Amino acid sequence: MKKIILDCDPGMDDSMAIVMAAKSPDLQLMAVTTVNGNYPVDVTCVNARKTLELLERTDIPVARGLAKPIIRDCPKDPFTHGTDGQAENHLPAPAMPLSELDAVDLMIKIIKENPNEVYIISTAPMSNIALAMIKAPEIKEMIPAIYAISGSFGLNKYAFLNATGDTPQSEWNVYVDPEAADLVYNSGVKLVALGLDVATHFDVDFSDDDLKKMEESDKKEAKFLLNAIHFIRNRGFDAYCTVIDCMAVAYAIDPTLVETMEAHVGVETKDGLTLGMTVIDRRHHFVWEHLPLIQVGCKADCGRFLKLLLELVLK
Ligand code: BDR
Ligand code: CA
Repeated sequence: MKKIILDCDPGMDDSMAIVMAAKSPDLQLMAVTTVNGNYPVDVTCVNARKTLELLERTDIPVARGLAKPIIRDCPKDPFTHGTDGQAENHLPAPAMPLSELDAVDLMIKIIKENPNEVYIISTAPMSNIALAMIKAPEIKEMIPAIYAISGSFGLNKYAFLNATGDTPQSEWNVYVDPEAADLVYNSGVKLVALGLDVATHFDVDFSDDDLKKMEESDKKEAKFLLNAIHFIRNRGFDAYCTVIDCMAVAYAIDPTLVETMEAHVGVETKDGLTLGMTVIDRRHHFVWEHLPLIQVGCKADCGRFLKLLLELVLK
């Protein structure tokens, strides 16, 4: 069982990422840490707890993280996850308390108590993770890997076409806190960045049969996803928007689901048209070796991803 911390900003797809992470028999979800991103942190830490209560997993601590990016102000997400941030599911207000430790301190504590065992799944701006690395740099040696929904690398035809809440050149999580992303990309910790190229894909779609299974299921999380799919389709978006962040959790469960390549990648932190862009050096012989070397997702097996996701949602 892989120990993980899920750092997220729920958001409907982050909520589904929590569902997958909490229900997978291959993962031990040590904590859910929340941050400003798709919604202000006050909303994201409520939504994380609502989701765990839905799953009856109040044993998993939820910690509140940064209310804003490390240096910048919060941009407004042009993409909507509904008035509640959960596709109008309007789950009951959570009764479980927040962790007494904030997200940064809880992350540091768990990593130090379990050196080399705790993977971080990042489905949000990297503000919490970056601050944890600033506050306790020694944890960098203790994290086996970070699996992130992060960036866009232009590796398939969908890149830049169907971005959610992004500028023409950057993916939302990097765009919100580019300095945090830059710090994490340069931290020396193994980073697997699954960008919009792989995580937003028209092949991630649900069949009528899938919808029927959710309809007939007695699992509240199946109803949650079903409502989210209707919510998003009614607004003219594609169903994959409901499960973008799930790709990082799926990768943690089964890394064969996404092909990756090693590449030097830099994060643009200067204001302007390309703020938050993840610049990948795809030249045959690496030239920009000064940029950090990371693993970049290039192709997901969308069919197997959906199968895994539905198995976990329905079980
Ligand atoms: C990100 O955008 C959000 O809508 C998702 O939660 C995801 O983390 C992808 O850019
Ligand atoms: Ca997210």
